[in-house]
Amino acid sequence: MERPYHVTVWGATGFVGKLVCEHIARDYPGKFRWAMVARNKARLEGVHQEMVKLNHKMKDVPIITADTHDQGAVDAAIKQTSVVIACAGPFAKIGTPVVDACVRLGSHYVDITGEIPWVARLIETYHDKAQQKGVKIVPCCGFDSIPSDLGCFLVASHIKGQLHRQTKEVTMMVGAAKGGVSGGTIASLVGAAFDETPEHRRAAMDPYGLLPPGAPHGPDKPDYWGIGYSKLAGKWHMPFIMQIVNTRVVRRSNFFNHYGDNFSYKELQESPGPIAAALGTLALALSFAALRFLRGLVLRLLPKPGEGPSKEMQLTGFWRARVIGLPEARAGEAAPAPVIAQLGDRRDPGYWSTARMVLEAGLTLALQEKELQATGRQQGGVLTAASALGMPLVERLRNAGFTFEIKE
Ligand SMILES: NC(=O)c1ccc[n+]([C@@H]2O[C@H](COP(=O)([O-])OP(=O)(O)OC[C@H]3O[C@@H](n4cnc5c(N)ncnc54)[C@H](OP(=O)(O)O)[C@@H]3O)[C@@H](O)[C@H]2O)c1
Repeated sequence: MERPYHVTVWGATGFVGKLVCEHIARDYPGKFRWAMVARNKARLEGVHQEMVKLNHKMKDVPIITADTHDQGAVDAAIKQTSVVIACAGPFAKIGTPVVDACVRLGSHYVDITGEIPWVARLIETYHDKAQQKGVKIVPCCGFDSIPSDLGCFLVASHIKGQLHRQTKEVTMMVGAAKGGVSGGTIASLVGAAFDETPEHRRAAMDPYGLLPPGAPHGPDKPDYWGIGYSKLAGKWHMPFIMQIVNTRVVRRSNFFNHYGDNFSYKELQESPGPIAAALGTLALALSFAALRFLRGLVLRLLPKPGEGPSKEMQLTGFWRARVIGLPEARAGEAAPAPVIAQLGDRRDPGYWSTARMVLEAGLTLALQEKELQATGRQQGGVLTAASALGMPLVERLRNAGFTFEIKE
């Protein structure tokens, strides 16, 4: 039976949730049925009014209040929607009841978490049930980890489809970027790094921590936190902080999509030279130490939940990345040339881009079921963007203005 809404935006009063609503108000008015959900009625009404100012067609969009601590209210909201676009975090603290309701009540789900220990918990608790019921739970559909996951998918699909080979190794080189950070992200990072249970923290540190128990591992070692020069990319590099999230997600995608028997994946941040790379790495280490030992003080100085980068910062922001894939050579053959994908957006990565990416991920699930089946995507479980959404999502992101292109 058709549900009242194709999608609901969960956490519509949050920094990212509100941006998702803005994208809909601006680019998709009247194109599908949707509702805004948040816990605080007065704040939600305020956001609704802002959307009506942006586009008067938003006046008919319903608002629903539900606190995730009230499972009855959560269930009542989830029953009404085909897909949930979840933006309310920290997810480890407040996200599980929403996923639980989706699995029980048969709604698909996407979110913007980057909390790998929590994703490990979701897989443990819900993967089998969701798979049996044909429910797709797709975490990490923001800047963490859509560029990595779909960039790798694009390159590996090209190597398979055009070169008829397996993929041996993929490196994502994160290039220049401009953007800001929100209080919600800081609260979630701190929670994932310091507050999780030891066993789930261990799962997050394991490079293959999101694979099912007993699944074969590849050649990847623990994350690389040094500097170096990549001959392949022709660039100096330093560690990319979000490798701790993205590499786990990409390796789970390889488990479902099978890019290669000996597939290996890493992420690096480009740097103009060795001194800049060393200083950048030192700054990263000092930030971690400050959060570990001066947490209270540091948190007082950073944005609070609900706060984030200005509209100007979002609109003048940008990000770029290159994904470099090496095809597996056949016996006696010289190493084939690398396949390179160029990725990017002319908006800030963490907020404007993230809100658009998770929206397009949710719409792929809500509106393109047939394409997902036809392109052989996974039909249920705790999945990744590349295993659940693949090429239909790449196409939607291109249409929304993102660069996701193989460089010939
Ligand atoms: N993957 C990425 O690239 C990426 C990028 C940005 C953010 N994120 C993640 O996205 C999440 C949200 O970030 P943000 O900056 O938008 O945070 P935020 O502004 O603090 O928003 C959090 C939202 O969660 C809602 N919420 C809090 N407790 C709730 C509860 N018990 N029941 C229902 N709703 C509740 C808040 O409602 P109220 O308005 O009532 O407080 C608000 O709508 C964070 O986990 C962050 O790490 C990920």
